[in-house]
Amino acid sequence: MVGAGIAGLSVAQRAAARGLRPLVLDGGDLAGGATHVAAGMLAPVAEAAFGEGALLELNLAAAARYPAWVDELTELGGRDPGYRRSGTLLVARDRDQAEALEREADFRRQNGLAVERLTPSRARGVEPALAPTIRLAFSAPDDHAVDPRALTAALLAAIDRGGGEVRAGVRVRELLVESDRVAGVRLQDESELRAGAVVVAAGARSGQLGGLPEHARVPVRPVKGQLLRLRDPAGPGLLDRVLRTEECYVVPRGDGRYVLGATTEERGFDETVTAGALHDLLRDAVEVLPGLAELEVLEASAGLRPGTPDNAPALGPGALAGLHWATGHYRHGILLAPLTGDLVVAGLLGEPVDERFSPTRFAAGVTA
Ligand code: GLY
Repeated sequence: MVGAGIAGLSVAQRAAARGLRPLVLDGGDLAGGATHVAAGMLAPVAEAAFGEGALLELNLAAAARYPAWVDELTELGGRDPGYRRSGTLLVARDRDQAEALEREADFRRQNGLAVERLTPSRARGVEPALAPTIRLAFSAPDDHAVDPRALTAALLAAIDRGGGEVRAGVRVRELLVESDRVAGVRLQDESELRAGAVVVAAGARSGQLGGLPEHARVPVRPVKGQLLRLRDPAGPGLLDRVLRTEECYVVPRGDGRYVLGATTEERGFDETVTAGALHDLLRDAVEVLPGLAELEVLEASAGLRPGTPDNAPALGPGALAGLHWATGHYRHGILLAPLTGDLVVAGLLGEPVDERFSPTRFAAGVTA
């Protein structure tokens, strides 16, 4: 695996569970990229988008797979992956947003997704800290959350117990391509590591690895997100469910910590945190959850989501023998982690894979 983010680690965990001997390499810290920054919403319903039917199906299957997967990780590695069955509230703060939210809810119902309309007073009945000025809310009871940093620790422990290996600070310069086959990787120090197969799981940088011919690449672009981590010195209680508005979301960890996100910015490989973005996030969030203004700021960060041209991931065998991909998860990397492991390992073992997410679809001009 090239990349020790959530994608590379979930593939390694499932590979080890199925009898393979995975080695994960990362030039930086383990899970130090987008995984470290991610809020951890598991939101197939809230993040369903028009025209993305295949992706919705995949996201729903991933959400359904989560409980068994986190149980498996807990049993294997003995660490709590921080999964919370919190449910989600979608909130509109003015009339325009309420109209848009009604349309969004109709779209979800038409796709068989569970959403329940709540008047402002009913919404405040379940989340009393919501502002009295909110106009409308919908409950999405099947959208939950996980703490990506706890999940990473649980995955690392499970991989270790399963006989896999993860190395940080080992930078891959290029893939070794010999007679149209990927035979391993060349590291920054010019040494070579040979492998039966290489899985590219390098997040937003997946499209930049050297050594591949143009037709074998997956086009991945970085989509920046800025977030704030907050803590309530009074402990948990301000908010129980994940809260989403048109402009922001707040993910409670259940222990008095909250993640407020996120911007969506097309700025290339720029990971700076800007005052303007944080100001906007705080302004929008405080309008629907005034108590947020009292919280302590723990951390401000920015991450790069790996986006493909059709916003769906690239999972499974690539255009060369020995080349596999686990990338392009865009807004759903944490949600898709268990299925990423299942599907990519199936490809490694020569089993059938879901062609709708084939990494080769971009070269062929076909999209999921
Ligand atoms: N799924 C949340 C985000 O990408 O910001």
